[in-house]
Amino acid sequence: MQTLLTREQIAMAVAQIGQQITRDFAGQSVVLIGVLKGACLFLSDLARQIQLDATFDFIAVRSYGNKKESAGAVQLIKDVTSPLRDLNVILVEDILDTGLTLTFLKEHLLSHQPRAFKIAALLDKPSRRVVPMQADYVGFQIPDRFVVGYGLDYAERYRNLPDICVLDAEQE
Ligand code: IMP
Ligand code: MG
Repeated sequence: MQTLLTREQIAMAVAQIGQQITRDFAGQSVVLIGVLKGACLFLSDLARQIQLDATFDFIAVRSYGNKKESAGAVQLIKDVTSPLRDLNVILVEDILDTGLTLTFLKEHLLSHQPRAFKIAALLDKPSRRVVPMQADYVGFQIPDRFVVGYGLDYAERYRNLPDICVLDAEQE
């Protein structure tokens, strides 16, 4: 498989995002909400680069199934477990693609009336957007290629690869 982003490049980007969040929320606490399952490696590394009082929560949605194309509709599978009212919420996602997932999650989480709401996406494929959506913190903008590793899967596989790789047609 062809490596797109090495573990060293990923670690540098994650450290930079952690520093930005530490600066932006200086003196405050944050709730990191990871989108299962893809964002769990990003969240665990990012959390250790944030020098603030931080708590974790997780949310899960279904949109892709085992295919590479978004199903279009996003369904909530698991909600957060505690109220977010007046808290500084940072939604942590692996990749921003069509924008459908984050549009759905943003609306859902804003209904909790957090004090602040920010999105951290490790990867962004801007050319794939179907609905307008931007992340506040982005690790890398990448071209329209299907990638796996560092949490990202194809049919649930490859999440444990330490680097982010382009999935070739033969590997499916
Ligand atoms: P969106 O709703 O189209 O923005 O898709 C976001 C979700 O699609 C991510 O959370 C991923 O699970 C999945 N996804 C999008 N592109 C890729 C990719 O290149 N590799 C693996 N998963 C992807
Ligand atoms: Mg995902």
